[in-house]
Parts: sequence; C-alpha cells; structure tokens
Amino acid sequence: MSKGVSIREKLDVFHARQHVRGLAGQLGFGHIAREELAIVASELATNILKYAGVGELEFRTVEDPVRGAGIVIEARDAGPGIENFSFAVRDGYGGSGPLDPAKLLTRGGIGAGLGAVVRMTDALEYEYEAGNKCVRATRYVRPERRDVT
Ligand SMILES: Nc1ncnc2c1ncn2[C@@H]1O[C@H](COP(=O)(O)OP(=O)(O)OP(=O)(O)O)[C@@H](O)[C@H]1O
Ligand SMILES: [Mg+2]
Repeated sequence: MSKGVSIREKLDVFHARQHVRGLAGQLGFGHIAREELAIVASELATNILKYAGVGELEFRTVEDPVRGAGIVIEARDAGPGIENFSFAVRDGYGGSGPLDPAKLLTRGGIGAGLGAVVRMTDALEYEYEAGNKCVRATRYVRPERRDVT
C-alpha cells in the first residue's frame, strides 16, 4: 500500500503531515512517534520546496522480517543533487560543508532538518540517479532493542 502526496506549496506540507499521522495511527505507532513522523514529513517536504521547488512524498508500509511493521517515507524531486549527504545530515551543515555561523540566522534554516530526521527514524538513505533525487526515511513501530552491558 502506498500513497503519494505532491509537494508544490506550503499547504502540501500540512497534507503530508496529516497523511503520515493517520497511517502511523493505523499501524500502531504511539502518540509521540506519530508526531515525530509528522515532523519528519515536514522537514523532507520543506526541503523539497526550498531546494527543488516541486516534488513528491510517497508513504508506504513495510513488514521487515526482523524489525516488524514500519513506515517508509520517500521524498523525491528533480532539483540539484546533494553534494555530500553525510555533511547534509549534520546539524549546522549544508550539503557541501559547515554553514557560515554569521549567516545562520538569515539564511532561512539552521541546517538541522535532516539531523532531526536521523534522530526520529531508524534509517535514512539518499539516492541520486539521472537527475532524480530520493531521500528515504524508515521508522519501525517497535523501538530497536538496545543491549545494556
Ligand atoms: N531536497 C533537497 N534538494 C537539494 N538539497 C537538499 C535537499 N534537502 C536537503 N538538501 C541539502 O541538505 C542541506 C541540509 O538540509 P537540512 O534540512 O538539514 O537543513 P536546512 O534545510 O538547510 O535548514 P533547516 O532544515 O534547519 O531549516 C541543505 O542545506 C541542502 O544543501
Ligand atoms: Mg531543511
């Protein structure tokens, strides 16, 4: 099952948030996880508006043999590629390196959106092929078990 929400204007960010909240509720995500998934959808959709102008968010459910049920959010656009994705996911960084602290408050974003996405999901992947970009975030219903030794 999958659904696409096209992202062209600010109101579409709201539609994406609403959709993921509903889907997460059906899958059994708790209240906090649902709101975090809404933030993830917001950040990915806002990046499309900021850096590509238009694009799409696709939502689908997955059933992983080990991790169980989850949601995959794919953010796709055909704007410029991200030079270095491991830079882009760091707080205070853009796609090509650290942001200039002097410009941080006036540039329209502090470079923390993808960092938040990393913190609120279990996996974040980036693909760029033939001018098409895809940022894919996955979160499972069941939190990852951490062994304490
Ligand atoms: N869809 C996209 N297309 C092109 N570049 C992108 C896209 N999404 C992110 N980037 C690049 O990755 C960088 C980091 O994105 P991130 O969302 O973390 O920060 P930001 O958008 O600059 O600021 P913030 O999200 O805090 O408002 C961006 O500065 C931009 O260079
Ligand atoms: Mg952003």
